[in-house]
Formats: sequence, C-alpha cells, structure tokens
Amino acid sequence: MSSQLEKIQELIDKRQQARIGGGEKAIEKQHERGKYTARERIDQLLDEGSFEELDMFVTHRCHNFGQEKKSYLGDGVVTGYGTIEGRLVYVFAQDFTVFGGSLSETMALKICKIMDMAMKMGAPVIGLNDSGGARIQEGINALAGYAEIFQRNILASGVIPQISAILGPCAGGAVYSPALTDFTIMAKGISYMFLTGPKVVKTVTGEDVSQEDLGGAMVHSQKSGVCHFAAEDGEDAIKIVRKLMSYIPQNNLEDAPMVECDDPIDRVEDSLNDIIPDSPNRPYDMYEVIGAIVDNGEFLEIQRDYAKNIIIGFARFNGQSVGVVANQPKFLAGVLDSNASRKAARFVRFCDAFNIPLVSLVDVPGFLPGTGQEYNGVILHGAKLLYAYGEATVPKVTVTLRKSYGGSHIVMSCKQLRGDMNYAWPTAEIAVMGGAGAVEVLYAKEAKASEDPKKVLAEKEAEYNKLFCNPYNAAKFGYIDDVIEPRNTRFRIIRALKQLATKRVTNPAKKHGNIPL
Ligand code: HXC
Repeated sequence: MSSQLEKIQELIDKRQQARIGGGEKAIEKQHERGKYTARERIDQLLDEGSFEELDMFVTHRCHNFGQEKKSYLGDGVVTGYGTIEGRLVYVFAQDFTVFGGSLSETMALKICKIMDMAMKMGAPVIGLNDSGGARIQEGINALAGYAEIFQRNILASGVIPQISAILGPCAGGAVYSPALTDFTIMAKGISYMFLTGPKVVKTVTGEDVSQEDLGGAMVHSQKSGVCHFAAEDGEDAIKIVRKLMSYIPQNNLEDAPMVECDDPIDRVEDSLNDIIPDSPNRPYDMYEVIGAIVDNGEFLEIQRDYAKNIIIGFARFNGQSVGVVANQPKFLAGVLDSNASRKAARFVRFCDAFNIPLVSLVDVPGFLPGTGQEYNGVILHGAKLLYAYGEATVPKVTVTLRKSYGGSHIVMSCKQLRGDMNYAWPTAEIAVMGGAGAVEVLYAKEAKASEDPKKVLAEKEAEYNKLFCNPYNAAKFGYIDDVIEPRNTRFRIIRALKQLATKRVTNPAKKHGNIPL
C-alpha cells in the first residue's frame, strides 16, 4: 500500500472510530435506555445524506482524575450542518455514550462554532440535548463553556430561530440554554429538566420526588410551561422539530416558507354561523373555529397542556404561515390569567421577531379576579401580553367572536394597540364589563330602595346589554373595521393578510424596551 493510501486508510479508521462515540457497549446501553444515539438522531432530523459533520477529531484536553487516559474522537457532541426540506440548519447532538454527554471545554467550543456559523449564515440552530451536565472532572472550564453557549443563545435570540429537543437528562445550569431558546421539545419517559436533581432536593428540603415528577415532560408541559411540546418518544420529538421548522423563517430578515395551498381561499364555513350558543355562559370549542378557518384544518399547537384558557400555535392561511392566538371559552370561560398571559406574550414576541403575522380570535370575559392572581403578579403578567401586542409590527388581524370586556379587550390586539384589521362577528360584545356586573355597580342602591330590586336590575341590565353588548357600538367609532358573517371568516382573514403583506411599521429607535418581566 502506498503511503498516500495508508494515510487515507488512517482517515477512514479514525472516522469509523469517531462514529462509534463511547463504543459499541455504550451504544447498546443507550438503546436499552430507550434512546437513540446522537448520530441516529441527526439522521432522523436532517434530509437524507445532507449532514456535514465538523470537528470530528476534537478531543478534550483535561488532565484531572486520569482523564488524559480516556479520550474519544468528537468528545461528547456531534456538530455540523445539513438541511431540513432543503433549508440550511445547524445542529448539535450531545452524545451520551461519551462521559454521559457531559459538557467539556472542547465540547462547548464545538457547539459555539456552529452557533457562530449559524449567525453568520442566518440559519436556525437545533440542539439535541442528552447530557449529565457540566463535565465534573473539568471544573470551572466546563462552567465557562456553558456560559459561552448561553451568551450566544442570548445574542442569537430574535435573529435566528433556536430549537431545543431534550432527549435525555438536562440538569443543573445546563437547563438555561434550552430555556433561552425559542422552543423546547421533551420526549415522554426519557427527558428530564431540573436545576437540582432528586438527591439534592431530598438533602435540602427533605422532599422525596422522582426524576419524572420533578422534571419530566408532562410536569414541564402542564405545570411549569417550560416545555412547548411533549412528544411521545425521541423519534416523535424530532418529527415535531421538522414540522415546526416548516412554519418559521431562516432568520429575522426572511419570511416563513410559503406552502402551496389547495384549500379554497373562499371556502365558506356555514357551521360557524351556528357555533355561538344562545346563552352567553355556555361555552363552545375554539378549536372548532380554528380548524374551520385555517388551511386544511392543520394547526400546530404550542403548549397544548399549559394554560388551556388560551390557545397558541402555527397555522396557514392561503399557504402563509401565521401565529394564532385564541381565547378558549371551553376552559375557565377563556379568562386571561397570569399563565395564559405569559404563554401568549412569549409567542406573540416570537412571531413578531420572525415576521410571522398574528391572527387573534377573541372571546374573553376579562382577567381572572382574586388574591391568587393578584399575589401572583397578574398585573405584570397581563402587562407582558399588552406590551407584546403593542410593540409587534407584523400584520395583526383580530376577530372578536363573542366577549371582549375591559382590560382584556385592550390586551387582545385591539385597534389602539395597532391592530391592523379588527373584525367582529355579529355576536360580539365589546364593552367595559358584562351587563350583570355593570348594573350592580351603577344601580345597586336604586334597586335596594325599590320594591322589586331584581326587576330593576334586570331592566337596567337589558338596557345596558342593548346599548353595549354588541359589536356596533365599537364599530360606530371605527374601533372595529367591519362586522362580518362568521362563515366568511376564512376569506376575510386571507384578504386582510394579502392586503397587509407590504406593511411597514417601525418602533422608535432605542437600545431595547423594558418589558415588565
Ligand atoms: C462526568 C459524567 C457526568 C458528568 C454522567 N457522567 N454525568 N461524567 N461529568 N456530569 C458519566 C458517568 O460517570 C458514566 O460514566 C456515564 O456518564 C453514564 O452515566 P450513568 O450515571 O451511568 O447513567 P445514568 O444511570 O443514565 O444516569 C444519568 C445521570 C447521572 C442522571 C445524568 O449520570 C447523573 O446524575 N450525573 C451527574 C449529574 C450532575 O450532577 N451533573 C453536574 C450538574 S452541575 P461511565 O464511565 O461509568 O460510563 C452542572 C452545572 C452546570 O451541570 C452549570 C451551568 C451553568
């Protein structure tokens, strides 16, 4: 064999060695845990044959605790770039077979390299996380590595989309990288996120809790709101990443991809003319409205199990990606509370940062009253949503279906928050507050002094409802641009979005605003 061929063979051998990460046994163990390896995950994520790996020959440079004797090509993370549906993305996948995917100084450098490239090229970064946290043997250098990654997460925020799939443990300060990214996907049964694990919790607080109950996919989907999508398993999590990508642009200077639309744009949906119950206190299902108006009824819901009184997610109108924000009358009567406000505010800001128009479907009786909410800071949380809508410069189309009262009317993308097209159904009730509450405030004394207090209040309520609980009072002042027939909603939204395609609005120049965090 010539010396050149020998060198080529050496390369082939090294590549082969790098590809098996921590070795066949560790791979077997990974599979036994019900998890895929880093490379298998990348294959599932990217278009076939599109992956270009970088830094395959990087090794750690730690000499503590005998680490110099244990070294693996690639060192605990597989990094590179490839395509999803032909679009460039950068990816890192932590390799649990090497030191439990724990983060070393050199691993951080590899991740930072592809993040820097993603920023230069204006392409999304997708992180597949499966790691025991900071590599303990490396001490402060591992911490510095995390901080380098976090800094890049922060600078990339709002410039390129960042998506985190959690496909194993993600503990300690390591959780802050996913938390800084735009979307976090967890897989049921294999993903855990917590700042301090069960053992430390037990020592510090005496609380006995399992990994699952402390930071499993359902905990973060239902209770904390940290997780945006709870996937059935690792493969499903990666499918969700691919789907999510189809709705979002490459960066803040581009638009989301247009998709061929075979759903007629003038499709009339008669069922919507009959969907609002006669009684204002009876709910209906907002999912039915969304399903009826968007292209082919397809809706990618985000945070489905968290603050169910508000629905957020991506859909398309005539092939154009939009962010849908909708109150859900079926859950807590669609009331706004702290969690719903935070959930919707973050989504509105994502859409605004990435040029995705907003369609808001309003049926909101108000903010949830009481000490529970006030002590929890509902004032600040509600203000987040108000701020998010008010600063958003993307096209904003609002349709009020039924209730739109008080502060919640303003918050939900009203005209004065620079709503571009504000429509209402004939069933809309746009007022300071509901009739029963209003007459209680205005006529309680008068009713009490009368012979029949109930009758007085009922008469006044009827008078109030006639005057205020309709869309025409708001339309009279131009706060509602048009009152539309429900069955035409799809067509009217599509026409509004078409009109708004060239919208250009800028906010005053500033370093940054001070959103009430
Ligand atoms: C070095 C680690 C490691 C770590 C795991 N390993 N975590 N090596 N540093 N942080 C190694 C193990 O020694 C083991 O090596 C291999 O990875 C697989 O780990 P197992 O424990 O066998 O796997 P499993 O039973 O599935 O448990 C996984 C685990 C557990 C839950 C992640 O390993 C664990 O609790 N690790 C420590 C987690 C932790 O406390 N990390 C530091 C947090 S502090 P061998 O050679 O036996 O195969 C932190 C600060 C970050 O991260 C701050 C950022 C700002």
